[in-house]
This record gives sequence, structure tokens and C-alpha cells, in this order.
Amino acid sequence: MLVDSFGRMATDLRVSLTDRCNLRCTYCMPPEGLDWLPKPELLTADEIVRLVGIGVERLGITEVRFTGGEPLLRRELIEIVTATAALGPRPQISLTTNGIGLARLAGPLAEAGLDRVNVSLDTLDPETFVRLSHRDRLRDVLAGLAAADEAGLRPVKVNTVLMRGVNEDEAVPLLRYCLDKGYELRFIEQMPLDAQHGWQRENMITADEILVRLNAAFELTEDDPGERGSAPAELFLVDGGPRRVGVIGSVTRPFCGACDRVRITADGQVRNCLFATEESDLRAALRGGATDDDLAERWMAAVRGKKAGHGIDDPAFLQPARPMSAIGG
Ligand code: GTP
Ligand code: 5AD
Ligand code: SF4
Repeated sequence: MLVDSFGRMATDLRVSLTDRCNLRCTYCMPPEGLDWLPKPELLTADEIVRLVGIGVERLGITEVRFTGGEPLLRRELIEIVTATAALGPRPQISLTTNGIGLARLAGPLAEAGLDRVNVSLDTLDPETFVRLSHRDRLRDVLAGLAAADEAGLRPVKVNTVLMRGVNEDEAVPLLRYCLDKGYELRFIEQMPLDAQHGWQRENMITADEILVRLNAAFELTEDDPGERGSAPAELFLVDGGPRRVGVIGSVTRPFCGACDRVRITADGQVRNCLFATEESDLRAALRGGATDDDLAERWMAAVRGKKAGHGIDDPAFLQPARPMSAIGG
């Protein structure tokens, strides 16, 4: 089992399949993109499936989420999902994506065994979309969402990062849209994980602010807090329910105490936290001929050293060297 020194158990594995992306969201990376990982440094599909298998079969992983960069850009995605769904005990399999390409891939992914998707959507305005992501792809994202719903990848969750002066006035329209379509919207506080190191606390729209904005148009009541478990989102019933909206207050309402996550980067490094400053190189071990036992042992050791929390409020806080796109959200 993957247990840390605070007694938290990691059962939720997030696997980044590529650091590349076809958008350039300002809270993530600069318009010109980044120096992508060279192909030989990426885990192969077989290497990914081997590690996921060790996680599921020996280490107690029950949920596997594929992330990026943009995971739909990974050519072998379908075969990776198929192989993951064949593991025993079968894990829950989900995907966090920007939605571009989902219109084509939602059906095949559902058939391969994908259970559900979380799609990023920060605006419903095509011009704001371009300003925010430097690409004119809003229509593809909305089509991707619809296709995911159609393919039964439910609940379809939508992730929105609100930013001051950019899309903060869209909280209510976005929620209306998602309620209408039956998607579960979650608003996320912006975290210091952008490649440009441009995060400023004053520009972050806080969970409190989000709730004030939403409460002006809807009546929100807390959904059973006993049900939250390790989920990052606090859920609220909208106008008495059953429809819900979530708020992920990573910065002002941290949930690290209940964290059950562990990550593998596209180049095969275990990260025990989004904000970890150290990584453990499973790729080197794997390519050096390590047995499944060796790999499991290394992975357990990596999780043991997990810190209590992200420490963003700590004056000595240092943003991790890897940006969000290379960690996988
Ligand atoms: P669900 O199981 O569907 O609730 O997934 P999720 O919300 O954990 O995953 P998703 O990839 O959609 O992430 C939503 C937001 O939560 C993103 O902004 C993530 O960066 C943030 N998030 C995910 N995991 C962590 C974490 O371990 N720590 C913190 N602070 N934020 C996280
Ligand atoms: N802060 C908060 N959320 C972020 N995401 C990407 N970068 C950041 C950031 N700096 C979100 C994306 C995606 C999810 C994986 O993380 O919008 O939905
Ligand atoms: Fe790509 Fe996600 Fe970064 Fe946007 S937030 S640029 S979709 S990796």
C-alpha cells in the first residue's frame, strides 16, 4: 500500500500521458509553448500500463485518471485505456482534458472502458476563449462536452478557473449553461503552477468570492459534507438540488489533510504531491531492468516522504520547477 508518514493512503493515481497541449491557457503556459519532453524520455504505452498495473494489482490503487498536458494528444490513449480496464481489480478510469478532439474520441474511449471525463471550460465567449487560451477552439470544446455526455461518460464534470478581469463575470452564465446541459461545474482557485511564474494572490478569485457571485443568482446549500471524503470539490446543491456546483478552494480551503493522490509524470517520475519538490525516477529503474517488486518498493518509498500540505501560505514556499502541464493537474 502507498501510505505516507501522516497515515494518508494514496489510492488515486493520476498519470500524465504527455506534457504537450494544443491550447496555451495563460494560467498554465506562455503563448509560445514550452520545451516539450523529447519522445525517448516519455514512458511508452507498455511502460505506462506496467506501472499502472503495479499500482492497481499490488499497491491498492483503485482510481486511475489520465491527464496531460492534453491526454487526447497521446496516440496510444485508446490502447492504454483498454489495457487499464483489463486490470484486476478493475479501477475506475477517468480523464481530465481540454475537450478538443473529444467529439471524435468520446465514443471509442467509452468503448475502451473510460468511465468519465472532466473537461476544462473557462468561458462561453469565443473572444475571451482566444484571449485566455490563444486558440480559437471554443466550438470544439463544446462539441467535445456534448459528445462525452452522449457517450455516457457521466457525470461529465467541467472545470473553470476564474481570473480577475478576464472571466470573473462568467460564473453565473457558466453555471446556467452547465445546469442546462446536465454537467457538474466546479470552480477552481488558480494555483501557482504556471510555467511563467506569474501567479499573484490578488488576481486569484477565491472560493468565498465565487460563492458570493453564485449566491446572487442561485440559492446554494452545502451538500452533505460527510460525503466529501478526499474530493477536492466542496459541493453545493443549487436551488434545493438535485443539481450541484462545486468549488475547489485549493489555496484558501486546502484539502491536503485528506489527500489520496499520487502522480506519475509523462517521463516516469513519481510525484507524491502536486507541489512536491522531489521526484522518484521510476523510468530509470524500469529501463534498468527493475522487477515489479523493486518498482513497487521505490514507489512506496516515494509516497512515504509526502509533505503534510502544499505550503502556499508559507513564506518559504517555492513553486515546483515543473509547471502544471508537465505534472498533470
Ligand atoms: P474528480 O475525481 O472528478 O473530483 O477529479 P478531480 O477534481 O480530482 O480532478 P481534476 O483533474 O478535474 O482536477 C480539478 C482541479 O483540482 C484541478 O485544478 C486540479 O489541479 C485540482 N487538483 C487535483 N488534484 C489536486 C491535488 O492533489 N491538490 C490540489 N491542491 N489540487 C488538486
Ligand atoms: N491553477 C488551477 N487550476 C489549473 N488548471 C490548470 N492550471 C491551473 C492552475 N494554475 C486546471 C485546468 C484543468 C485542471 C487539470 O487544472 O483548468 O481543468
Ligand atoms: Fe493545456 Fe491544460 Fe495547460 Fe490549458 S491548462 S494549456 S488545456 S495543459
